[in-house]
Amino acid sequence: MLSLFVPALLLAGSALAQVTYQNHSQTIVRVDNGTYGPEVEEVHYYYDQWPIGIAVASDGRIFATYTRGDDEYTLGVIVNKTAEKPYPSAGLNLPPSQLNSTWNGIPFGSGNSTGLISVQAVYITSKTSTRPETLWVLDTGRPTVHNAKGEPSMPYAQPGGPKLVAINLSNDTVYRTYTFPADVHYPDSYLNDLRFDFKSNLSGTSGEGIAYLVDSSNEGRPGFIMVDLGTGESWRRLDQDRSVLRGANDVPSYQGIPFYLRQKGMSVGWQLEGLDGIQLSPDGKRMYYSPLSTNYLWSVPTANLRANASDDSLVEVFAHANVSNHGQRGGNGNGFEGDSNGLIYQLMPEHNAIYYFDPSDGLTKPFVRDPRIIWPDGASVGTDGYIYMNINQLPHQPDWNDGVDGRVHPGVVLRAKLPNGGKKVTSLYED
Ligand SMILES: *[C@@H]1O[C@H](CO)[C@@H](O)[C@H](O)[C@H]1NC(C)=O
Ligand SMILES: *[C@@H]1O[C@H](CO)[C@@H](O)[C@H](O)[C@H]1NC(C)=O
Ligand SMILES: *[C@@H]1O[C@H](CO)[C@@H](O)[C@H](O)[C@H]1NC(C)=O
Ligand SMILES: *[C@@H]1O[C@H](CO)[C@@H](O)[C@H](O)[C@H]1NC(C)=O
Ligand SMILES: *[C@@H]1O[C@H](CO)[C@@H](O)[C@H](O)[C@H]1NC(C)=O
Ligand SMILES: *[C@@H]1O[C@H](CO)[C@@H](O)[C@H](O)[C@H]1NC(C)=O
Ligand SMILES: *[C@@H]1O[C@H](CO)[C@@H](O)[C@H](O)[C@H]1NC(C)=O
Ligand SMILES: *[C@@H]1O[C@H](CO)[C@@H](O)[C@H](O)[C@H]1NC(C)=O
Ligand SMILES: *[C@@H]1O[C@H](CO)[C@@H](O)[C@H](O)[C@H]1NC(C)=O
Ligand SMILES: *[C@@H]1O[C@H](CO)[C@@H](O)[C@H](O)[C@H]1NC(C)=O
Repeated sequence: MLSLFVPALLLAGSALAQVTYQNHSQTIVRVDNGTYGPEVEEVHYYYDQWPIGIAVASDGRIFATYTRGDDEYTLGVIVNKTAEKPYPSAGLNLPPSQLNSTWNGIPFGSGNSTGLISVQAVYITSKTSTRPETLWVLDTGRPTVHNAKGEPSMPYAQPGGPKLVAINLSNDTVYRTYTFPADVHYPDSYLNDLRFDFKSNLSGTSGEGIAYLVDSSNEGRPGFIMVDLGTGESWRRLDQDRSVLRGANDVPSYQGIPFYLRQKGMSVGWQLEGLDGIQLSPDGKRMYYSPLSTNYLWSVPTANLRANASDDSLVEVFAHANVSNHGQRGGNGNGFEGDSNGLIYQLMPEHNAIYYFDPSDGLTKPFVRDPRIIWPDGASVGTDGYIYMNINQLPHQPDWNDGVDGRVHPGVVLRAKLPNGGKKVTSLYED
């Protein structure tokens, strides 16, 4: 209303108003062309399984994850512009018939601690003096199965199935697997993302580094899970803290359309995912994070995530009290990435864009926008200084459309050059 009234008063009788009216046959109305930022290049096309996570290795290999379901495999490597294949082998990807089990009539995910069940995310750490370049694989252990009515549903995890797997990229062999006790990974946990710091002097660790994992639990107990990479011990922090909880009844818009959760056979609802994107500062001292379905960015000192409850019963209270609210960013945020300049990139599915948080002035800024960015899911900064992202058209998937799959092949890997010579963060992997 304001914009109708104010110009009318200001323009009455003015020269500007006369010019506009006398030459209206030439008027060109300004449009939103849908783009800004560096050139967006198409790197790979997915013609078969729809991807989620992505990681780019120093030799250019691109790894993709596919949560499943019915898919033949859950971890793949791109072989050419239009095809991928199972990684590290077809045999390590459990076949669809072995993904789930039933106990007392209750469906569970597989408890196989070797075979890959449903991989959500991957992350690559660079070579160090003690460790090869490593592909870290986060298996949720929770496939999507079909319930008695034939509708998709996600069974609970059983211990063993959810795991963190380290694969040596020099010879494509698993060299370490971490599983979780039942009081760290709950049956309704969902492992969503992962970051690493290998420094030997980190408080609260045995000196062989740490993994910070996301539990995004749609069922409502999201939080951080930490793994001491030396001892394999794991623990939780910021469990159900207000900063990790989903936004209440959040209705995002994708391509201008408001989206509710519309699962076949269920009442219309809302996206329930909590804590989602995370990124470490290049010095490893601060963790930035956000739930999927809020507009807020948060951070916490990593020392508060590492602190051991056996040493101090107040560690959870201290962690909560040390959380910083960086305010709103202008939309829901999905996966995060970061670069050597300390910028915190945030995938913005409502805006077909990537924004970044700039810690030097505390503001969120635009980086790249393109109409092809229809749900940017995982992203990965390569050693070549490009950010690669998986585009998977998630708002068109059956779960948000009454069971109708409106996705149109291909999915795609897009990439854009980072600003100011930004590179992959390697400072955390030097010890
Ligand atoms: C109308 O606008 C066009 C483009 O700005 C200009 O070239 C033209 O001379 C204008 N015509 C009149 C009658 O002002
Ligand atoms: C699209 O608009 C943006 C400003 O929003 C501008 O920076 C960009 O150059 C325009 N792109 C094209 C192709 O015109
Ligand atoms: C890509 O690889 C697939 C599977 O190996 C093969 O069928 C296809 O012909 C290849 N395409 C090109 C363009 O090389
Ligand atoms: C796995 O789930 C399917 C439904 O998707 C069900 O038919 C099958 O019986 C389950 N397998 C086991 C071993 O429970
Ligand atoms: C677990 O998966 C591995 C790898 O696929 C397979 O070799 C092994 O037989 C499975 N174990 C069980 C108990 O099914
Ligand atoms: C990784 O593979 C390389 C090449 O085979 C090997 O030299 C190295 O010992 C392996 N490291 C681990 C931890 O498996
Ligand atoms: C990879 O390297 C590790 C450590 O040297 C070794 O145990 C393993 O057998 C190697 N795998 C292959 C396929 O060479
Ligand atoms: C740990 O080591 C890093 C260098 O690897 C150094 O920058 C940092 O200050 C050290 N931290 C502590 C608490 O000693
Ligand atoms: C916490 O500290 C206790 C006592 O020092 C130690 O036994 C335990 O291993 C530590 N736990 C973790 C997860 O590091
Ligand atoms: C922040 O955490 C530290 C321990 O890392 C603690 O000493 C401090 O009191 C906490 N800050 C607040 C405001 O509680």
